Amino acid sequence: MNATIVDNRSALPAPGSYVRAPGCGNGRYRGGMVAETTRPTALITGASRGLGAAIARELAATHHLLLGARTPEALAGITAELSGITAGRSVNGGDLLESDVDHSEGGVGRSGSATNRFVGSGDRSGLGAERSRFEGGGDLSGCGELPGFTPWPVELTDYEAVAAACAPIERLDVLVHNAGVADLGTIAESSVAQWRNTLEANVIAVSELTRLLLPALRAAKGHVVLINSGAGLRANPGWGVYAASKFALRAFGDALRLEEPELRVTSIHPGRIDTDMQRAIVAGEGHDYHPEQFLTAPTVARTVRTAIETPRDAHPTEIVLRPIARDAV
Ligand SMILES: NC(=O)c1ccc[n+]([C@@H]2O[C@H](COP(=O)([O-])OP(=O)(O)OC[C@H]3O[C@@H](n4cnc5c(N)ncnc54)[C@H](OP(=O)(O)O)[C@@H]3O)[C@@H](O)[C@H]2O)c1
Repeated sequence: MNATIVDNRSALPAPGSYVRAPGCGNGRYRGGMVAETTRPTALITGASRGLGAAIARELAATHHLLLGARTPEALAGITAELSGITAGRSVNGGDLLESDVDHSEGGVGRSGSATNRFVGSGDRSGLGAERSRFEGGGDLSGCGELPGFTPWPVELTDYEAVAAACAPIERLDVLVHNAGVADLGTIAESSVAQWRNTLEANVIAVSELTRLLLPALRAAKGHVVLINSGAGLRANPGWGVYAASKFALRAFGDALRLEEPELRVTSIHPGRIDTDMQRAIVAGEGHDYHPEQFLTAPTVARTVRTAIETPRDAHPTEIVLRPIARDAV
């Protein structure tokens, strides 16, 4: 068992440095992101729940993940899931066999090999919380590696904190801007604070995080994925503030794509997805919630994988997904 108990952030190894890939002989170092792994690194904002957690599950088998959320506590569920630990303990009281992992929401052990063994432990206190460590002997992704992740808790509108959190990242293959807020209401009802909060979270924080990570993205000729919305293509009554933020996000992506020709920038425009955000929206609309009418988060997450796995002779610039009600097919 390799428990890493660290409560002093400055004493932490650089993110990723403790995530080794036993059995994978082609490890290489990546500057500050010294993951000894052949895996590409993906930072996912808003990975604590909803679509972001689904993207983390989707990419866990192939990427080293930096998992974003506002607080370490918010990441406890997804990190426990990804490390094969439920409710702070492994299912079988210690080491957890891949076959024990709960796949009900699309868990991480996708190879189906019962020989995969996750040994995880995490410090869940303070800023250095959730620094889990893995050992593995099974073949999960073709080179003997097991999933690795580094919690990356930061409030994305606290730009000093974001700069500090970005500082160790010297190379980044994939940046998924997923975190976002939806605060709906008509223009007549919308306050200045509502406009500011929405534009701050959905646009300005995205721009600043991208700006800070541009050197790392350029170093990897990386891929920026913007989780936009159908509301980024058309504005409906009552959706003006949110739609304005997503239109702006689309413009941000279009400009970034032209300014940084070595990067790929993909705007994904899903319709309604079955997540906490959608539950709150439907409650606000005064309707009953029917999840079967909405896209599932794993389906949208699969689209993120499709975008980043598109061969480099193509640039997937925009992907639009609309739900097909599952009781209609
Ligand atoms: N749900 C839909 O129907 C739908 C449809 C189209 C597009 N989208 C877009 O998909 C993305 C994900 O939506 P979702 O439905 O999964 O939302 P969600 O369930 O509300 O989750 C939002 C995530 O964003 C994080 N977050 C929000 N503000 C943040 C901030 N200032 N700093 C750090 N993290 C922050 C949250 O972290 P905490 O857990 O710490 O709060 C949470 O992890 C959003 O960009 C949304 O606009 C959603």
